[in-house]
Parts: sequence; C-alpha cells; structure tokens
Amino acid sequence: MESLYGGAVHRRITIADLAAAKTRGEKWAMLTSYEQMTAEIFDEAGIPVLLVGDSAGNNFLGEINTIPVTVDELIPLTRAVVRASKRALVIADLPFGSYESSPELALATSTRFFKESGAMGVKIEGPHLATVEKLVASGIPVMGHVGLTPQAVHLLSGYKVQGRSDGEAILDAALALEKAGAFAIVLELVPADLAARITAALKIPTIGIGAGVNCDAQVLVWTDMMGITKNPPKLAKAYRNMRSELLAAASEFAADVSQGSFPAAEHTFN
Ligand code: KIV
Repeated sequence: MESLYGGAVHRRITIADLAAAKTRGEKWAMLTSYEQMTAEIFDEAGIPVLLVGDSAGNNFLGEINTIPVTVDELIPLTRAVVRASKRALVIADLPFGSYESSPELALATSTRFFKESGAMGVKIEGPHLATVEKLVASGIPVMGHVGLTPQAVHLLSGYKVQGRSDGEAILDAALALEKAGAFAIVLELVPADLAARITAALKIPTIGIGAGVNCDAQVLVWTDMMGITKNPPKLAKAYRNMRSELLAAASEFAADVSQGSFPAAEHTFN
C-alpha cells in the first residue's frame, strides 16, 4: 500500500501501515465513531483509523463526561463500527475502571472487546507500562494517550492544557509507552512545541488533539468535526454546521406534518 488514502480497499489498515506512513512522512486523520452510519461514511471517506472513544459518554450516551461509560455500553458500539466499516483500523477505548488496577484486568477487558466486538486494538490513558507490555505480549495492539487524559479530569482539576511546566514528564511517558510496545500515542491538549518534540523523538506515530500541526496524525471527535456539539472545545474545527441543519430539517418536518403536506403523493401507496 503506497498511501493510507486511496489505497487498497480489500483489506483493513494495519498498525504496520501506520508505521510505514510515519517513515514516509505521510500525515493521516482519525475520527471517533460510535455507531453504524458514521462508521460507513467515514470509512468511505478513507479515514484510516476509527476510534470508538469513551467520548461516547458525553457525545452519544448523554453522560456529563467519559467517566460513567462502561465496557458493556462500549462493546455494542464498537461492534457496530467494525461491522459497518471495511477498511478502517477500529480501536476501542478501554473505559475508566476497566483496566487500571492490573495488567490482568486490562487483558480480560481487552479480550472481551476483541471477542465480542471485533476491535483491532485498544486505547488506554496514561503510562500503564506493565499493562501495555502484557497486552502486546498477548497479541493486542495498544494506542497510548498522554497529556490531558479525560478520565483523570477530577485529578487534573478540569480540561486544562498539560505540560506547560512539566513537559519532560510527558515526553518521558511517551518514550516509555513506545518502549513498552504501544503502536501510536494520542497527545491531547499539550503545547504545540512539546508535541513537535515528542513527535520527533518517537518512532511510532503521534496523534494530536489540541497539540498543534506537527503531530503525525490528528484526531477529532466526530460531533465536534460536524458542528453538532453545543459547546465545542477550542481545539476542534467544525467542518459543517450539522446542528443547525438537523434543527432546520426537524422543524420543517414538524411543520409539514402539522400542515398536512407530508406525506405527499410520492410517499403514498395505493
Ligand atoms: O474518547 C475519545 O474520543 C478520545 C479522543 C479524544 C482521543 O480519547
């Protein structure tokens, strides 16, 4: 495969393809997806990696943040994304409480995702090095996540930029995750110059979100990317205003129904 975009569609993207893209200097995009329709569409658009993020909590499941999301909630969403895509590498986020206490718990949770959803890798927040080693030794690709780790929002006292004063600690965590066997690392809400240093120091791809343009890849939460989120974070760009489109469409439908102009003849059976 020459490029992650426009390449073969008869097989899934692999972690080897992502490693090769870093060697070529090819940048790529990752999007979250939590169900069938967006998975189909983003796969058709050629997005090489789909993340079934625990951001499903506050973008799909009506929660205030990612913390309440459970394994039992995320597995069917991941299964839908796997079934609806043909080419994307599908990564499942391990929810808060489902992996931190031991590498064995992380392996048991990841095994459920692999067997019950078809996920092709997992993402975990923070430098759980023994866990990464255990999962990789068991055949499970692991995506790391450093900087702002939303599952630790209360410890971090909010969704704040990380690494302004302790950038070395984040660089060290990223290097340690690479050594432990992670195939890629999300850098969330860190200064752009720190993300650029980490990206240059690592052999594996970095995936930025609020981390500047010099990462190897970029990820957005799809509802932010499409302008559905009510109060989107500063790090996100809305490529469309789907919230106002949906609002307008639902209002038009309601008006048509109350005026008796829907269904029209072409929607009616004799
Ligand atoms: O859950 C999620 O959507 C994420 C991305 C923001 C990286 O972790």
